[in-house]
Amino acid sequence: MTNSPDTYAVFGHPVGHSKSPYIHGRFAEQTRQNLIYSARDVPPENFRDNAESFFAAGGKGLNCTVPLKELAWRYAERLTPRARLAGAVNTLAIQADGGILGDNTDGIGLVTDLTDNQQIRLPGSRILILGAGGAARGILGPLLDSRPQQIVIANRSLDKAAAIAADFAKTGEVASIAYPALAGRQFDLIINATSASLSGQLPPLPDKLLAAQGCCYDLAYASQPTAFVEWGRKHLAAKSLDGLGMLVEQAAEAFLLWRGVRPQTAGLIGELNRARQ
Ligand code: ATR
Repeated sequence: MTNSPDTYAVFGHPVGHSKSPYIHGRFAEQTRQNLIYSARDVPPENFRDNAESFFAAGGKGLNCTVPLKELAWRYAERLTPRARLAGAVNTLAIQADGGILGDNTDGIGLVTDLTDNQQIRLPGSRILILGAGGAARGILGPLLDSRPQQIVIANRSLDKAAAIAADFAKTGEVASIAYPALAGRQFDLIINATSASLSGQLPPLPDKLLAAQGCCYDLAYASQPTAFVEWGRKHLAAKSLDGLGMLVEQAAEAFLLWRGVRPQTAGLIGELNRARQ
């Protein structure tokens, strides 16, 4: 007799475009894990009820995406240190005693993609993050752990950037800046954590912002190059990437938390990249 598969899901709103069911399906095949992973559209007001019924029905783990990550943070009964710092949870896991653990694998997913897949050197680098919302907060801890020289956060509303910089001050060197003050500054890595590029918009960026051999990384991904990836290409970035690699790496970290095994990612990232060319 075969055991029934463990169940996992991603909750989001909207969630129709999510690649997570495909990614986790491929991970399960590769690592021979018996599980099913589905996507469910859950508006914020229904998040708690839906999460409760999912786990009550025997569900083992959830991914939570926009706009549910802060609700998931509040819902979790325990938090990993990186999730506590991020103020957002993208992975929930039921533990042996029935408690729900919240983790945030976005930042480690980004750092793994930058360093292992793209060979971008972070120690000693000057990093600029555009945007000061949940996405920026989620990546800061793991980026600081990679020992850059400095991280600067630029945002339209400066008070939000300053608040994040203050929250992370104990962890490393973080400063906040308004967009006009970027004139004359240079960075080795510019990360777009604004929600702007999804609607084809860009924050105002001066022309010489990217240092020679510098790289650009958009946390968002799309079938076409995002406005920020195009900006990086135009400004001769050594690499101008979107968040597809991060998406697969954050999923691999969630899979590791749930199943105790980390799937290989390179083949799948290559496949997903080829599929959109
Ligand atoms: P997320 O959870 O995706 O980070 P969020 O918390 O709503 O979403 O944050 C969105 C971020 O994108 C904010 O930093 C926002 O800047 P403000 O705080 O100044 O509003 C930024 N953003 C959105 N549209 C933008 C645009 N057109 N230009 C510059 N920044 C933009």
